[in-house]
Amino acid sequence: MKARTLPSTYYTDHEKFDKIRKRFEKFWHYAGHLSQLSDCSAISVDHMGDLIGEPMMMTDENETRCISNVCTHRGMLICNNKSRKHTLRCPYHGRTFALDGSFKAMPEFDDVIDFPSPKDDLESFPTMVWKGLVFAGIDPSGISTCIEEMQKRVGWMPIEKYKYDPTRDRSYEIKANWALYVDNYLEGFHIPFVHQDLNTILDYENYRTETFDGGVVQIGIANKDEQKFSLPDNSPDFGLSIAAYYYWIFPGLMLNFYPWGLSVNIIIPISVNRTRIIFQGFVGDLAMLGKGAGGDLDKVEAEDQEIVEATHKGVSSGLYHRGRYSPTKEKGVHHFHMMLTEHTT
Ligand code: FES
Ligand SMILES: [Fe+2]
Repeated sequence: MKARTLPSTYYTDHEKFDKIRKRFEKFWHYAGHLSQLSDCSAISVDHMGDLIGEPMMMTDENETRCISNVCTHRGMLICNNKSRKHTLRCPYHGRTFALDGSFKAMPEFDDVIDFPSPKDDLESFPTMVWKGLVFAGIDPSGISTCIEEMQKRVGWMPIEKYKYDPTRDRSYEIKANWALYVDNYLEGFHIPFVHQDLNTILDYENYRTETFDGGVVQIGIANKDEQKFSLPDNSPDFGLSIAAYYYWIFPGLMLNFYPWGLSVNIIIPISVNRTRIIFQGFVGDLAMLGKGAGGDLDKVEAEDQEIVEATHKGVSSGLYHRGRYSPTKEKGVHHFHMMLTEHTT
């Protein structure tokens, strides 16, 4: 392998940052899991505002929809966290909407000419659902290979039946460029150095990384006697002791499958040197919680964040320019860098 890692300007340059952020409009982004709507009619998907500038709500009446959360009167955000009502009501001046976004009523507007018009409805965004996971975007394309890859390996899991567990919600803001956080996620190379506990659970020598169009999967093999999946015999990995499947979908979605369920990480670039990371957890098997590679995610996360923040300081140095890749351990990082380069030139 002759390749060199990304020039440090990819992590420090404002123009490059703005360019890639703008491209986020062209991709599908994770909105949520349908189990988040089990006790309500709508939830606000605030991270879409931070990711692509469009605050959204997710509703699921007859059809799953991601609709604008911006009131068509004077722009107030309609839903704050969740709504249990069948009608959505803007808290500012009381305009109401149906769960499909269509305008319903507005106080004190009786004499307004040409009102209501279709412009008073809330816009619907392109939305798609795979096994309970909802994706949306402004002008999205290109997630089909990722879905096929996940279907092949983890499609046997009853992901659509997993239950949202709000006690697993986390939101962190770190002092580092978002791509450094992704780089770190995409290799298991650092596990023996950074995650001593996790390293006793995973078989480092047999850790696998596969790349595909739009994403990467890393497969954590369990050491002897550690918690693993009971794989069905039609799984391509049948016979292996798998502790975790770590899927990353460009640009910043991480879907971590463990025997207990799914941990979702959403990576949100705030500025060239600030990143928000949101965690959500969906539980399939309560008895499996707290064990194995997905046992103590808070500890692993703290270890990763410390490294990523320190690396940000390092790549900002005038002396550092770029490095080389390990052909055996940094295939995923290389794949991400190729995509970043493609979307910034
Ligand atoms: S901004 Fe929503 S009713 Fe006025
Ligand atoms: Fe890590």
